[in-house]
Amino acid sequence: MINFELTDEQKQLRDMAHKFALNEIRPVAAECDREGKMPMEVFQKAFELGLMTEFIPEEYGGLGLGSLDTCIISEELAWGCSGISTSMAATGLALTPILIAGTDEQKKKFVQPFAEELKFASFCLTEPGAGSDASAIKTTAKREGDYYILNGRKCFITNGSYASQYTVFAMTDKSLGHRGISCFVVPRDLEGVSAGKKEDKLGQRASDTADVIFEDVKVPAENLLWNEGDGFKIAMMTLDRTRPSVAASAVGVARAAYEYALEYSKERVQFGTPIAMNQAINFMLADMLIGIETARLITWKAAWMADQGMRNTVEASIAKAYAGDLVMKITTDAVQIFGGYGYMKDYPVEKLMRDAKIFQIYEGTNQIQRLVIAKEILVRK
Ligand code: CAA
Repeated sequence: MINFELTDEQKQLRDMAHKFALNEIRPVAAECDREGKMPMEVFQKAFELGLMTEFIPEEYGGLGLGSLDTCIISEELAWGCSGISTSMAATGLALTPILIAGTDEQKKKFVQPFAEELKFASFCLTEPGAGSDASAIKTTAKREGDYYILNGRKCFITNGSYASQYTVFAMTDKSLGHRGISCFVVPRDLEGVSAGKKEDKLGQRASDTADVIFEDVKVPAENLLWNEGDGFKIAMMTLDRTRPSVAASAVGVARAAYEYALEYSKERVQFGTPIAMNQAINFMLADMLIGIETARLITWKAAWMADQGMRNTVEASIAKAYAGDLVMKITTDAVQIFGGYGYMKDYPVEKLMRDAKIFQIYEGTNQIQRLVIAKEILVRK
């Protein structure tokens, strides 16, 4: 039996997140975009409402909600500003490997503190020479007694300058390829950990993106998740869980662009009639809605599967690729509907178009999503 109705709790969650996006995020979005600023007061309020800890199980102080609930929240927050919402979600991405692979003790030590006060964490996989090819990482972790000595440089790390804790993927045995990658929790205050300069980006400028550098960092052996060599699998399992919420955020941005375009096209009069009356325009609006509704359905399916404990690799990649490509098209079309005004910073849609681009790139490019889907169809099924 299929039911497309959200529960009363989910509707409340959606309404709360929407109200928060409208009243707290949107008013500061343009300024944060212009100045590349993380709005700490907004994060603090979001934290107090549980909007940054909903995915943390109740026994570790969070709301204990599922992936579908996170998607509902993500869509609304990204509707407000996806730069701001990406910073909020990136902590979840960094804590997910610990939730998947951590012991009870590790969860208490490395997850629970994020439910107690506002803090940021970063997921450190990407390196200058290892983006799509995640198994090509060069960061090393060498066992010495009760420690691993960590050396390397991670790049494009969301929350990199603000994080108090990093989830780091490093080679413990290079000769084993991806089976030689291990995953560590690295507190920021360990000696030898530093953040590089903040990147100046096209879009999602409110989120912090920076290099993170590890120089002879002594990481306690008990900070290893699962066993040596399990890191790549942990990374892949994490991305299966988090890609649906990236897709949901893309839907949120697409919806914002659609709403602005709809409103504007009803008001803008050319040739004596609102431009929405022209088929050239209203077909664009109809296509936007087709895309939003279908992207949300596959996104929710991918999240629902994760909540049932099912492997959702294909569905998570379909959702991420479909919603990521869609948001680029919809925001570009919204700028088109606004015409010359759409190109100006006085109107909201150019920001949405800039923000949209990264959805085709981060958490695995959309080409990588197709590669994942093709591999699952041809090799694993
Ligand atoms: N779940 C569990 N295990 C999985 C898995 C999954 N979804 N996918 C792969 N694996 C396992 C395989 O079974 C295989 O196991 P064995 O050791 O038994 O062989 C192993 O992992 C290797 O799998 P592949 O042969 O498929 O690996 P590959 O190297 O050919 O390709 C890839 C892997 C899918 C291309 C991967 O490298 C990838 O996802 N790349 C993209 C990286 C990415 O998404 N980066 C995003 C960084 S985070 C970010 O952007 C966030 C941000 O800051 C906002």
